[in-house]
Amino acid sequence: MLHVNRRDVLKIGGALGAASAAAPVMVASASETDISGLPRVKQELVAPPFVPAHEQVASGGPKIVEVELTATEDKREIDDEGTMLNTLSFNGSIPGPLMICHEGDYIELTLKNPESNVFEHNIDFHASTGALGGGALTLVSPGEQVKLRWKATKAGTYIYHCAPGGTMIPFHVVSGMNGAVMVLPRDGLKDRHGNPLRYDRAYYIGEQDFYVPRDAEGNFIDYADHGEGMADMFDVMQTLTPTHVVLNGRVGALTGDNTMTANVGETVLFIHSQANRDSRPHLIGGHGDYVWEQGSFADPPAEGLETWFIRGGSAGAALYTFLQSGVYVYLSHNLIEAVQLGCLATVVVEGEWNHDLMTQVQPPTMMTA
Ligand code: CU
Repeated sequence: MLHVNRRDVLKIGGALGAASAAAPVMVASASETDISGLPRVKQELVAPPFVPAHEQVASGGPKIVEVELTATEDKREIDDEGTMLNTLSFNGSIPGPLMICHEGDYIELTLKNPESNVFEHNIDFHASTGALGGGALTLVSPGEQVKLRWKATKAGTYIYHCAPGGTMIPFHVVSGMNGAVMVLPRDGLKDRHGNPLRYDRAYYIGEQDFYVPRDAEGNFIDYADHGEGMADMFDVMQTLTPTHVVLNGRVGALTGDNTMTANVGETVLFIHSQANRDSRPHLIGGHGDYVWEQGSFADPPAEGLETWFIRGGSAGAALYTFLQSGVYVYLSHNLIEAVQLGCLATVVVEGEWNHDLMTQVQPPTMMTA
């Protein structure tokens, strides 16, 4: 039998409500597999939209994939109007970096909370199996670090997020503290007939809703630190109406010089996460050739979708082969959120234009009748 210590119980109580904290928690230990012989690989995490180097088809047997995240508390500009927000994040990026492993692998995370921080942080992996997704086992105060290992038993795309208990859960998540894990089938992605599906590049897009308080004149308030702005931010959060809905941490993070790119003929995997709110990804001028809308690679992908639905608290994946050159807009097809709140990215595609697929038969001219 394994006794969950008092701190764990308190944190479980904090996350789920006071009632559960009163009951002692006893956990029966299951038979453990000896994994001491498994190879270990360090995965260098990278800032989204880029994804870590990985194999699409696993070579060899299960591995222990070591990753490291640092809880970051800072302040950043989130739009082109100079709006400043005190943000929380993993490794300083919003969303946090994508981790990639294969079904049957283990993720071994070191989570660090620097002494300069003021908040406790932890991580809830939706891909993992166990109480609070690891939340109770990873709670670290400033100056602490912790190590968690979990087995990737479900293939798919899943979010992770900070969940330090009570109202700090939504506060940390809407301040930017979320990311995603992609657990690939060992033999790679497949269509509904079992034929292999491969990609030439992958992008990780994390959608983020922000709730920035305004002053009496309607201007966004620039608070000195997280604590000063917290009560006002809770008031805005309570309206369920975000002031910003952005892709990768700020308005314009994936446009202009930071656009995603591809070439005609390339197949691109787009992984899209939303830790808090529903979204409707759409690629203007293209499609979702194969879409795992709910993120599970155990399900056959839907084909030829125009728009797909990402439920709040999940990640999904869409595969598309670009057939035309040009600038594609990747957005949430709530067009108010896309155009007015910032939920929009671009993909610049180089290559030949296919006039069979689309051509301008007559350029704009004066109407004749
Ligand atoms: Cu946190």
